[in-house]
Formats: sequence, structure tokens, C-alpha cells
Amino acid sequence: MNIWKTKTPAQIADAAEHTQLKKNLTAVDLAALGIGSVVGTGIFVATGQGAQLAGPGVLLSFIIAAVTCGFCALTYSELACMFPVAGSTYSYSYVAFGEVIAWIIGWDLMLEYLVAASAVASGWSTTFIGLMQSLGTWVKAHGLPWVELPKAFLTPPITTVNGKIVLSGGIVDVPAIVITLLITWVLYIGIRESAKINNIIVVVKIIVILLFVVLGLGHISLANLQPLMPFGWKGVMAGAAIIFFAYIGFDAVSTAAEETKNPKRDVPLGLMLCLGVVIVLYVSVAFVLTGIVPYKLIDVGNALPAALSRIGIQWGGAIVATGAIIGMVSTLLVTLYGQIRIFMVMARDGLLPPAFAKVHPKHQTPHLCTWITGSVTALIAGLFPLPMIIDLCNIGTLFAFVLVSVGVILLRKTQPQVERKFKTPGMPFTPLITVGFCFYLMYSLPKVTWFRFGIWMAAGLAIYFMYSVRHSKLQKTA
Ligand code: ALA
Repeated sequence: MNIWKTKTPAQIADAAEHTQLKKNLTAVDLAALGIGSVVGTGIFVATGQGAQLAGPGVLLSFIIAAVTCGFCALTYSELACMFPVAGSTYSYSYVAFGEVIAWIIGWDLMLEYLVAASAVASGWSTTFIGLMQSLGTWVKAHGLPWVELPKAFLTPPITTVNGKIVLSGGIVDVPAIVITLLITWVLYIGIRESAKINNIIVVVKIIVILLFVVLGLGHISLANLQPLMPFGWKGVMAGAAIIFFAYIGFDAVSTAAEETKNPKRDVPLGLMLCLGVVIVLYVSVAFVLTGIVPYKLIDVGNALPAALSRIGIQWGGAIVATGAIIGMVSTLLVTLYGQIRIFMVMARDGLLPPAFAKVHPKHQTPHLCTWITGSVTALIAGLFPLPMIIDLCNIGTLFAFVLVSVGVILLRKTQPQVERKFKTPGMPFTPLITVGFCFYLMYSLPKVTWFRFGIWMAAGLAIYFMYSVRHSKLQKTA
């Protein structure tokens, strides 16, 4: 067995899947695709968590996380155009580094997709619960009957206090589980979000964010914004390490590279447009949020709607919450779909059991893989607290980007002949700067997250040696 065995670029080209792709996307379509998968729990919920760590300096956290993503995106796009295949970074690393690293990345990507999906479901739940509470108050005030679920069924059993895990008094987060299973069912019967629906949802998200900004602007008190960095630079970086989550998903732009008219121009343009719009929206939100609510009083589970309610604009809070709930559903759908595709590709390679690649005769979807993925996602969302999930997701994603960046440099040397429709500018500095930024953000995450990440990766390696390497199809080829 050779655990370092690499695939050739031809071996990963999944021709059957890509011949029918129409090349008709423009930079604006790519940007919409990106915004659709990026804007979700991160801005609507995690902004509050970032502000607890950075204070009003969370503005700077948003900018630092955006710069990191900009560099990541430029690096990532080269690989996405070189190997326009399903399976994302996992597939590229099979060529760049060989099987064992491909496995490590595939395992790591579960943090970027599956665990991120749990985070989105968890954030969806807290926003949904907030909206239901406001609705309940209104209904009861009008003398009408209203049924409330006991708090124990709206809260995961554990929570973190100063980095320590403690019992929360809750049992399970039922709404998080229900929404995840509902989306899983949608994926099981094979409904995919069309570009049209994505565009509508993108408009909804942008409108509710702008609404929040416009409604809050007049209520900003400069006193809330001072001091800007109550926890210093360290706090800003710790905030950035959380806020990074709000930008995850921009790689959707890179993976659609093959469907664009002119990847050389459209991919970087689409990426920059997506990140440009997102950063303006995010920084405005951070500024208004920390301007209207003292950062210590931000509702970490329901940051934006609760802030509007606090300044007396209940209807605004309700509209923003409704828009957020719709927007997060699309993020959840795209993220879960991405995970299912990665599992499928890994199963086709023999690294995961064949059940993961089995396709349903009627629905034409990988049904077992879909239900396994959805159930695990639902369990994590129902049982673990959001900050813990986000930290783990971020460390995994940042690590994947480190490997992608190294991969781009390596492949320029080992596979110079493969056509690169988009080339990362400023080689080798762009990927090296990306690595630097990613490591700095990883370093700014709590030490306990590193520990959990270590355990996760060790478990992955154990599975590789016990199962995957023995069933790998590549190992059986000459
Ligand atoms: N960036 C995505 C979100 O914020 C994962 O929900």
C-alpha cells in the first residue's frame, strides 16, 4: 500500500458529469451564487458572538476576515478552474498531495460543510424562536390563545461558559432538528435550488440587511462605540476568528467556474463582487448593531432582530427575522448539498462505504448518503451550542484553505502542463499570505478548539487506516 499515491488530473476528471454543463454564467450570476450561500447565520446571529469578544471593534474583525477570504478565494479559484469536478478540495488534493492527505482534507471538509450546516440550523433555530416569542407576546396581548414549547425543548443540553462546558438545563433544540430534517427531505426527493430562487432569496437577504441598517442608523449612540477595542487587538482577532464563519461558502463561486462564459475574467470579478457586496453589508451591520446596543447587551442568539426590538421597532425586528429565516434555509440547503456531493465522491473512490454513493432509483439522489448526512447534522445542531459548533467549523475550514494554498504552489511545479483557466496572481505570495492569514485566525481561536480539532483529525486518520486504505480503488490500480 502506498498512502501517498496520487491521482493524475485525468483520473479525477469526472467527464460524464460535466459535459452537459452549459457555460452561460456571468460574473453577476457568480456573485449572486456566492451571496446566496454566504449570507446566513454568520451575519444574523454570530455577529453578536463576535461583538462579545471584540466589542465595537467587531467592525475590524469583519474586515480582517474578509481580507483573509479574498486571498483564499484568489488561490482557490485556480484549483477550481484546473479541476472542475465534484468533491471540492478533496478531489484536488488527491492530485496534489496523494491519498492520505486527500482523505485528511475530505474528513476535514466535514467541518466546513456538515458542521457548518449544523451551525446554520442552530442559528436558524434561535432566530425562529425569537420570532415566535415576539409573535406570542403580540398574540397574547390581543387576548388570543398561544401555545409555547417548553424551554427545555428549545435549548441544547450543554452550553459553554468561559470556554468550559456546562449543563444548560435544556434537553434538545427541536426547531434546529426539524429544519435540518425538512431540508434533508427536500434534498432526498431531489429538489435543488434553481438560480431563479437563489436570486430571489439573495434579494430578500440584501433587503432585510439594508432595512436593519436604515432603521438602526438614526438610533446610533456614539457612547456605545467607545472604546472601540475594549479587549485590544487580541479581542479583535478572536472576533475575526468567529466572524470568518460569516464568509464561509464563497467557494461556491469557484466551484461554478466551469459553467462561466469567461472564467479568466468572470471568476475573479464574481468573487470580488460577492465579497465586495458582502463586506459592505456586514461592516454596516456591525457598525449599526454595536452603535444601537451596548455590546454586552447584544442578544447572542438573535442579534439583529432583538436589537431592533430593543430600540422599539418591533415590526422591523419581525421583518428582519423573517428574512433571516428564509435566507438561512437557502444557506442550509446549499451547505448540506455540498457535503453530500463530497461524501459521494469519496465513496466512489472507495474511501467511504459504497452505500454513500448509492443512488435512489426514483429520485435519482444519493438517498442513504443524504439521510445519514442530514441526521448527523441534525443531531449536532440539536445537542451542541452554536459557538462551539462555529469554532470547530472555522478551524476546519481555515485548515482546508491552508492546504489548498500549499497545493496551488505545489501543483505549479508538479503539474505545469494542466491548463489553468484562471491563474492566481502574485505567485507564490498570494498563497503564502493566505496561509499566514489562515494560521493567524486559527491561532486566535480558543485552545480548546485546537484540542477538539486534534481529536477529530486523529479519529479521521484511524478510520483511514482501519477502513479507507484497504478499500481504496486507487490502491488497487497499477
Ligand atoms: N457563511 C454562512 C453563514 O453565515 C455559513 O451562515
